[in-house]
Amino acid sequence: MSTVQAQDTLTSEVTAIHIPDDELFRYAGSLRDKVVVITGASAGIGKETATKLGAYGAKVVIGDLDFSGSEKTVEEIRKNGGKAFVLKCDVTVFDDIVALYEFAMDKFGAVDIVIPNAGVTEIGRLGDVRFDENGKPKALGFKTIQVNLIGVLNTLHLAQYYLLKNRKDRTDLKAVILLGSVASWLGLPGGAQYTASKHAVLGLMRSMHPVYERMGIRIATIHPFFADTAIVPVPVKIFLSGIPLVPIPRIAGAIIYAASNPDRAASGCAYMVLDDGPVFRIPKEEFKLGVYKMIDERSNALFKAVGGMVRLVRAIRKMKVPLVGVVVAIVSWGLYGRFGKQFGLGL
Ligand SMILES: NC(=O)c1ccc[n+]([C@@H]2O[C@H](COP(=O)([O-])OP(=O)(O)OC[C@H]3O[C@@H](n4cnc5c(N)ncnc54)[C@H](O)[C@@H]3O)[C@@H](O)[C@H]2O)c1
Repeated sequence: MSTVQAQDTLTSEVTAIHIPDDELFRYAGSLRDKVVVITGASAGIGKETATKLGAYGAKVVIGDLDFSGSEKTVEEIRKNGGKAFVLKCDVTVFDDIVALYEFAMDKFGAVDIVIPNAGVTEIGRLGDVRFDENGKPKALGFKTIQVNLIGVLNTLHLAQYYLLKNRKDRTDLKAVILLGSVASWLGLPGGAQYTASKHAVLGLMRSMHPVYERMGIRIATIHPFFADTAIVPVPVKIFLSGIPLVPIPRIAGAIIYAASNPDRAASGCAYMVLDDGPVFRIPKEEFKLGVYKMIDERSNALFKAVGGMVRLVRAIRKMKVPLVGVVVAIVSWGLYGRFGKQFGLGL
């Protein structure tokens, strides 16, 4: 266990579990014959992850807008003795995602790991208002949100159904690994949609983890600092010159580690892949410090109250008292308490 100093002065420190590079593939043997659905694997992080997964014996199904680029990834996997297929797919189109999962079922009969990796970014558009010929402000496109958030939502919405479809038992490895970013934690000036989408991806992981845990499906987010891929705009690459970028194989290693580590404590976590160091696993308990702590305590109190209401409703149901009548009585009592005096009805 090692400790990383957080740069934000509002939080004193973050406890994280340090995973050296040679540990990242420790559990990769369990990927043999697992069926992986990955989006955006024609290039960059997705390509590296798909080829590594193929090398460990996973059966890879790629969905990407760039069909010819993805065919090259497929060729590389097959050249190394692996199994892979590609389907042209736009993650923003729900039917394309349905077709992608059906394609995987058709080719390999199951889906075990889902990696919604496809992503894009924008530079400096929000607030930069453009006008049409009548001087009226033009609407802004939300492509980054469409691909990075709606695309992930489309893929996630169907993931659980397909992951559980041909499952033998709860010990079967099933996982969803999402691509966050450092922009899940900080605001990138000039990248408002990208920042919002990556904050949202972290929220999605946190929202789905309790649901998936009950089903024995692992989930995690991977948060790389900048890596040298096509998604990073050229001006940003120039700005970053001299700063170490994250090696792409390390990001692929973090994805593979998060998908294959059978430890329950390794699910629901964020994996940071910073500029010059190893991968750090941020345990979910770290999301209960600082502002997170304040919100966590409030939400616990709320959930306790909701839990009480649920128990009350169940008890009423058991007594076979008509529920609508009880709800009307409770609401009337509340209204009476609040407004009764105003109308001279006070006791
Ligand atoms: N490179 C970085 O610095 C960095 C840092 C943090 C997070 N990430 C995340 O990693 C993921 C992969 O990015 P990358 O760096 O490899 O970028 P990349 O540009 O190399 O690859 C993106 C892939 O997504 C595909 N794609 C784009 N729009 C699509 C759509 N609508 N439907 C289907 N496929 C689509 C592209 O064809 C390509 O294969 C992204 O989610 C990105 O946000 C990247």
